[in-house]
Amino acid sequence: MTETLSSPQIIKAQDHIENPTMAFAKDVLTGLNKSPKRLSSVYFYDERGSQIFEEICDLEEYYLTRKETEILQRSAAEIISKLPPNTHLVELGSGSSTKTRILLEAALASFGTTQYSPIDVSAEILTDTVKDLNQRYPDLQLEAIAGRYEFGMDYILKNSTSSKCIMWLGSSIGNLTRIEAAQFLREVRKTMGDQDSLLLGIDLRKGPEILEPAYDDAQGVTADFNLNLLDRINSELGGTFKRNNFHHQAVYNVDEGRIEMYLVSDIDQETEIKNIGAKISFHKDEKILTEYSYKYSHSEITALAEASGFFLEQQWLDDSGWFSLNCFKPQTNAAELRAL
Ligand code: AVJ
Repeated sequence: MTETLSSPQIIKAQDHIENPTMAFAKDVLTGLNKSPKRLSSVYFYDERGSQIFEEICDLEEYYLTRKETEILQRSAAEIISKLPPNTHLVELGSGSSTKTRILLEAALASFGTTQYSPIDVSAEILTDTVKDLNQRYPDLQLEAIAGRYEFGMDYILKNSTSSKCIMWLGSSIGNLTRIEAAQFLREVRKTMGDQDSLLLGIDLRKGPEILEPAYDDAQGVTADFNLNLLDRINSELGGTFKRNNFHHQAVYNVDEGRIEMYLVSDIDQETEIKNIGAKISFHKDEKILTEYSYKYSHSEITALAEASGFFLEQQWLDDSGWFSLNCFKPQTNAAELRAL
C-alpha cells in the first residue's frame, strides 16, 4: 500500500508489519542478549547519525567517497552513453544524492528529460533532496520513494515500463555478509528486465594501514558515529548507557576481508533499558559488534555477480585502484553467449 506525503513527489512505501520503535526495541534486546553482543548498523542513521555520516564522508582518512566521486566524474558520460535512451534511473539508499548528481547531469545532457527515483528509508532526507534537485534540475522527472528497498523496488516494478538502471553507490553492500549480498542482489535481479543494468559501488580489499584509519579517524568522528548508537538507545528506549564508559574500536579482519566495528566496555557495568524492562551487564573489555564493512577483491566481485544472476559487464577504478564502480548485467542465455 502506498500513500502520498506532504510533497506529491514523495511516495511513502508503507511497512505495515510493526512500528519502527518496536522493531528497534526488539532488535536491541535480541542483539544485546547474544554472545558476543551485537547491534545492527541499520540503526546508525537517526537524524544525528546521518549528520555524522555526512561528516565522515568529508574526512581525509575516509577515502571511499572521494574515490567514488573521482570515478563518477571521469566516467559518468561513458556510463550514461551505454544505457538505452530515456533509461529510468533508480537509486537505493540515495541519502543526499550528492554523488548521484554527477550521473544525473550526464543523463540530462544526453537524454534531455530524465526519470529519477531515489529510494531511502529516511523521509526527512528525501524531502530536502527533492527540494534541492527540483531547484537545480527543472528537467528531472523526480519521484522519490520513502521506505525500505524492497518496498521501493516493488513500487517501481508496478509503476514503470521504461528500461532501468539501478544504482547502489558508496559500498553500502559492504554492510551485508557475502552470502546476504548475493541473496539481496538475487531479489533485485527478479525486479529487472534483461536489458536493465545495476551500477554498484564496491570498496576493494587493501591493507589494514589504510583501512583501519578510514574507520578510526584522528578527529574521532567515526567514534562519535559508533557511540551515537548508545545515545539513540537512551533517548528512544529509555536506556541508561554512559557513553564515557565505552570506546570505539575498528579492526580489519584480513581473512574475512572486512572491517569490524565494536563498542568496548571500559569497566564492569550494568545498564538498564527501561522501556523494554531489560538489564544488560558488561564485563570490562566486553565488546558489542556494531558493524561489518566488507571489502572485495576482483574475483569476489565477479563471483558475487555470478552468484546473484548477473555478469560483470564493465568495471571502473580510481587512479589508486582503491574503489570500484561495477556495471552488472542480468545473465540470460544470450548474454552468456556474448560474454564468451
Ligand atoms: C555507509 C556502509 C558504506 O561501511 O564504509 C562509515 C558506513 N561506517 N564509517 C562503510 C561507515 C563507519 C559505510 N557504509
